[in-house]
Amino acid sequence: MHRGHAPGGVAVSAQEKLLANVEELVAEAGDLREWITWTDDLPELQLGGKRARARLLLATAASLGVLGEPAAVLAATVEMIHNASLFHDDVIDNADLRRGAPTLHSQNGNRFAIMTGDLCFARAMQLITRLDNLEIYRRVGQAVVDLAAGQLAESTPGPANGGLEHYYRIVDRKTGSLLSLCVGLPGVLADLPPDQKDGLFRAGELLGRAFQIADDMLDLSSDTEHTGKDALRDLHEGRLTWPYLTMLELAAPSQRKILQAVLDDAGTATPTTLRQMAQEVGLFDHVRRCLDDHLAQARILVENVPRWQDGKAFFQVCSALAHRTR
Ligand code: IPE
Ligand code: IPE
Ligand code: MG
Ligand code: MG
Repeated sequence: MHRGHAPGGVAVSAQEKLLANVEELVAEAGDLREWITWTDDLPELQLGGKRARARLLLATAASLGVLGEPAAVLAATVEMIHNASLFHDDVIDNADLRRGAPTLHSQNGNRFAIMTGDLCFARAMQLITRLDNLEIYRRVGQAVVDLAAGQLAESTPGPANGGLEHYYRIVDRKTGSLLSLCVGLPGVLADLPPDQKDGLFRAGELLGRAFQIADDMLDLSSDTEHTGKDALRDLHEGRLTWPYLTMLELAAPSQRKILQAVLDDAGTATPTTLRQMAQEVGLFDHVRRCLDDHLAQARILVENVPRWQDGKAFFQVCSALAHRTR
């Protein structure tokens, strides 16, 4: 991230300093050596990715004038919950790669990965008690429930022809839960009136949709060397995510038949065939419009808060998370 000019520049470098605090808090919370003291033969946990959630939360806090230590604690808590969810997610999704490295479960077994995930969830709950704020505890607790419910819903057969509606129901929980905290919790720190806080939580949920759509697009359109994850993992695990559901909607009847046959035989579908089909039905233009639409809706909601100011860093973070390439 590059530094902006004053007055935004001052806020950006303050955010970078707090991001360093977040790194320390996360590393401390995820240090397994505190419990397993009798051996040095412990895996180094992968606790840091792009830090999209921490950046979003700090940028929101800056726009609301509440950038400080409590915002860093919130950001570390959300990143810790996120890490916990990924240790479990990789077991559920049978994924071999994460952040360009072998997943915890593929190296150390499911038992180790599941318990490490549990420990990280619990550590996040401890971290948040550094702030003395009942509403924040409630909001974070609800988000963890929603995240788990979303993951469970995705692991359960959906309604017949659930389509995009069912997809969004899952995404709002499994991903929107945390993104929503990133935009909403600074509003709690700022002690905003309830309707303004609700608008911020809703804006975060919309960003969660954009974030997951971008993630699901990368599963189809990008390669392991860029994402650090296996390509076509969703399809090979039988998950019809946004790109596939949308391609089916966009396709003409004759194309839909061919596409459906390819999706039904997901094991043999190749990235080249699918990308060609995506091109033919106009998926790449469609996704750009859809992401921009989510960002625009989120923007209206945050700018509705009278206290909102200097949102340049915030909008840069939003755009980066929707138009990311990894
Ligand atoms: C991956 O999240 C899981 C999703 C919700 C799509 P990120 O893409 O933020 O993962 P890291 O933390 O940067 O690795
Ligand atoms: C992301 O799951 C949501 C959570 C981890 C709660 P995905 O399975 O869609 O994300 P990736 O693609 O593995 O990162
Ligand atoms: Mg998953
Ligand atoms: Mg996954």
